Amino acid sequence: MAQDPVHASPRASTDAGRHSVAIDLGVVVALTATAFLFSIRFELSERITAWELRHEAWQVDELPGTLVVLFAGLLWFSWRRTRQAQREVRERLAAQRQVVTLLLSNRDLARQLILVQENERRTLARELHDELGQNCTAIRADATYILHAPPGDGAGIAASAQRIAATSEALYGLVKAMLRRLRPMTLDSLGLVPALQELCEQWEEQTGIGCAFFPVAVPEELDDLLGITLFRLVQESLTNVARHAHARQVRVELRRSDCGRKLRLAIEDDGRGLGAEGELQGGFGLTGMRERVASLQGSMQVGAGPGQGVRIEAVLPLAAAAT
Ligand SMILES: Nc1ncnc2c1ncn2[C@@H]1O[C@H](COP(=O)(O)OP(=O)(O)O)[C@@H](O)[C@H]1O
Ligand SMILES: [Mg+2]
Repeated sequence: MAQDPVHASPRASTDAGRHSVAIDLGVVVALTATAFLFSIRFELSERITAWELRHEAWQVDELPGTLVVLFAGLLWFSWRRTRQAQREVRERLAAQRQVVTLLLSNRDLARQLILVQENERRTLARELHDELGQNCTAIRADATYILHAPPGDGAGIAASAQRIAATSEALYGLVKAMLRRLRPMTLDSLGLVPALQELCEQWEEQTGIGCAFFPVAVPEELDDLLGITLFRLVQESLTNVARHAHARQVRVELRRSDCGRKLRLAIEDDGRGLGAEGELQGGFGLTGMRERVASLQGSMQVGAGPGQGVRIEAVLPLAAAAT
């Protein structure tokens, strides 16, 4: 079976490295021994010395000393290159480890995304089946009653009509809530700032936690992906505040910054603040937010706010946005 490159054993490559070092050392020892035996057999040094003396006029006898220096120089050179290669290998291994960690976290995220998507679909299907189906049956029953009601039964007809009106109203509310979950309609019809304003107001109403939204110089026309990203960042942050923060007040600020080239989003709460480092890394909400921001070449920081609650700041380039 082919081995997953992510989980390839480092031990196997270390063993192979040791084996090749042993072979190389063996070759060096064998060559040295052969050269020594060759020198003994042919009296090499004596011959070289005699040859040097014969050509002393050309200073050939100075060559051995110079060659020793060249040898030392080459040793120093190869030692430096080895150190450099080791450094580069270490850096490459560190980068490789980082890539593997990212890959694994991406796999987790992808799995989690599929789970969330399936859960959302299941909830929608259940709501469609239970609420929509039941209400349609009720409307049909009332409409049938009106169609076949005896001529004098004005009160019964009126009651049925009222029930139809009430059920339709409930259905409308249900469909609106579903649509909001699937896609914030205000984002398409009115733009990001009104959509965020509406989100904050609805969230405040649902949770009882104060939510103040401050938009500063935000362009009216924004790239679709940038708009939905900022909306989802605020949505997930507010969900986290409601679930984890025990806060009384949240401040959401969206402003154009960096000479108009970026949008800076800050969400601050006055809650219990961050726990241990590990607590932050465990969740997929924050990881998903980071992934969304990174996919638009932005940056995101999660830290302590001025009131020691949580402050999330994301900076996204406006490059893709129509200004
Ligand atoms: N506003 C906040 N106040 C306090 N703790 C928070 C806040 N936002 C996030 N956290 C902590 O960070 C963790 C990770 O959040 P997240 O990634 O959204 O995952 P989840 O909400 O599913 O737990 C949370 O479990 C919580 O402990
Ligand atoms: Mg969350």
